[in-house]
Amino acid sequence: MRIPIIAGNWKMYKTHLEAVKLVQSLWYEVSDVSGVEVVVCPPFTALRSIQTVIGMDKMNFKLGAQDVYFEEEGAFTGEISPLMLKALHVDYVIVGHSERRQYFKESDQDVNKKVVAILAHGMRPIMCVGEPLEIREKGQAARYVEDQVVNCLQSVPEDRLGDMVIAYEPIWAIGTGRTASPEDANEMAGHIRRIVACIFSEPGFQKIRIQYGGSVKASNIKELMAGPEVDGVLVGGASLSADEFARIVRYRE
Ligand code: PGA
Repeated sequence: MRIPIIAGNWKMYKTHLEAVKLVQSLWYEVSDVSGVEVVVCPPFTALRSIQTVIGMDKMNFKLGAQDVYFEEEGAFTGEISPLMLKALHVDYVIVGHSERRQYFKESDQDVNKKVVAILAHGMRPIMCVGEPLEIREKGQAARYVEDQVVNCLQSVPEDRLGDMVIAYEPIWAIGTGRTASPEDANEMAGHIRRIVACIFSEPGFQKIRIQYGGSVKASNIKELMAGPEVDGVLVGGASLSADEFARIVRYRE
């Protein structure tokens, strides 16, 4: 049984004070929900405050970061290391988000190094993959995503597949209001699981969780989660409103 995982990627929004308010409002609305893992991913500057608030109020939320560098320490001005995140009780780290690939030129090889480093430090990657519109229109989405998955999972230990989350986020659906159909999301999630099954020999592929991301809202969460291959969602814009995100977390009601 894979536990559904709903993660909010707050991107470059919210000061640490605003972030605290948001997480408190959210907890107020979903504290009675069980059976769903909820992850909040604030910007780096809010991690410490959110960690404190989650701990103090015993909120049943996991803490996530939006990126990490793969080295433990060194002269890498501006970067944040896995050791630093681990010390803040960060559990999940989003890696390879399409915005990082597009604006900061992250390659599959960079993403792979980060995935390996996150696992090595006892945290769990939310590894993002997804095709641009022109690739989808040419009918090459499955192949494109396959390459990303294969490249980014190099050297991942088989016994850690249960700690891996892959987020399928078609680039044309991110922040656009245009969502993949539930059928397409489910089909690609199944495709990703079959790729993982081909790479690894043990039945670990059954444990890996696959999320859909891209314009997820309260109004479409139910149908997206209905797909048997979709184990959760990665939510951007809609996670910035406690009300909207709470309705997403309560998708089973
Ligand atoms: P969106 O972003 O929900 O605003 O489309 C999703 C994401 O970038 O993870």
